[in-house]
Amino acid sequence: MKELADKLGRAGYLPFYLYFGDGNLRVGDWAVAAQRLSEPLRSLVQLFLLQSPANRRHVTAALGECLVERMKHFGVIRNGGSTFECQSFSLLSFRSNLYFCQLNDDPFAYFGEDSVALGTYQSPAPGGDVLDLCSGPGIQALIAARNARHVTGVEVNPKAWSIAKLNKELNHVGDHVELVNSSLQDFAKTNTRKFDRILFNPPLVPVPDDMSYAFVGHGGSDGLSVTDDILGLYRPFLKTNGRFEFIGMTVGKKESTLAGDPLVELAKKHHLEGTIHVLSRHRIREQTPLVTSCAISLARSNKIEISLAQKQLIDFYQNSDFDYFYLFFCSWGKAAKGRRAKASVVDMSYYYFGDWFA
Ligand SMILES: C[S@@+](CC[C@H](N)C(=O)[O-])C[C@H]1O[C@@H](n2cnc3c(N)ncnc32)[C@H](O)[C@@H]1O
Repeated sequence: MKELADKLGRAGYLPFYLYFGDGNLRVGDWAVAAQRLSEPLRSLVQLFLLQSPANRRHVTAALGECLVERMKHFGVIRNGGSTFECQSFSLLSFRSNLYFCQLNDDPFAYFGEDSVALGTYQSPAPGGDVLDLCSGPGIQALIAARNARHVTGVEVNPKAWSIAKLNKELNHVGDHVELVNSSLQDFAKTNTRKFDRILFNPPLVPVPDDMSYAFVGHGGSDGLSVTDDILGLYRPFLKTNGRFEFIGMTVGKKESTLAGDPLVELAKKHHLEGTIHVLSRHRIREQTPLVTSCAISLARSNKIEISLAQKQLIDFYQNSDFDYFYLFFCSWGKAAKGRRAKASVVDMSYYYFGDWFA
């Protein structure tokens, strides 16, 4: 699979995708721009970005039989008469890696704005040991692998884990990346190693406890339930100067301060210290894009109207006295013994330019 990047570069696929930005999700723009492409690039874009059937002859001419067979073996493409079809997978490029992932409503091989956020904010650990929990299709693990001595990715869903293995092969990163199919809870029971970095982009969307939500996203009513589990279970596995680096979304009470908010309390609870970068804030009101998109997903998972999902979401948080959602990146290490743990807030939301994790 390592020749795929080379062949996609030659055919113009990677420059086409990267024109819209590294790790971009501008699906509508891809479709418009694809109309002016000639073959075989047009077929590759149809297959890997637009989820539409692509001319078999053009795809095979661009990629070769061998690569096509390998992708069929992993189940990312299949025959459809004179066409190939991508089985709900897109092929994106981010931080010089290629990823097969899914951009649909209930993906198991997740890639989203949050993946790009942690992929951007995670700090290199040259020569270090890195653990990527909730690793999905391997995005964070494969970025960390550029600098680290050893990387372990842990993912509970066997289908996501299988795509992570494909992505590892695709990016030719080598044996220092180990991908484990396990729940993070079970992995903690048997693990004996310590890490310089523990990265995680967990299920993180704040969702009222009595509502269902896509598995990759349900973060409990404050968006922090999986994060809380991870910090508790994995604190003993941090090296002395090791750090958790993670992103998420939680709820805030007042416009101007985070004092008493769930995330600050979480740092205290686990005796961790470091920074909380607040990346953006979104009022829990109708019409804000973040609330609307959460409501759309809630409506789908609970099989109810979007307007009802939106109302239930807003009522739940306003009745709990929460006024806004905020998105954050944290870098936390163990607080020294005898010292009060303190997470300091770096409020970047003031500069917010419109992306969720700007
Ligand atoms: C938001 S996705 C993140 C995927 C990827 N790491 C990224 O940065 O985009 C969350 C992932 O956590 C996985 N997950 C959820 N609960 C888990 C658990 N208890 N143990 C391990 N993985 C879990 C889901 O299957 C999903 O792949």
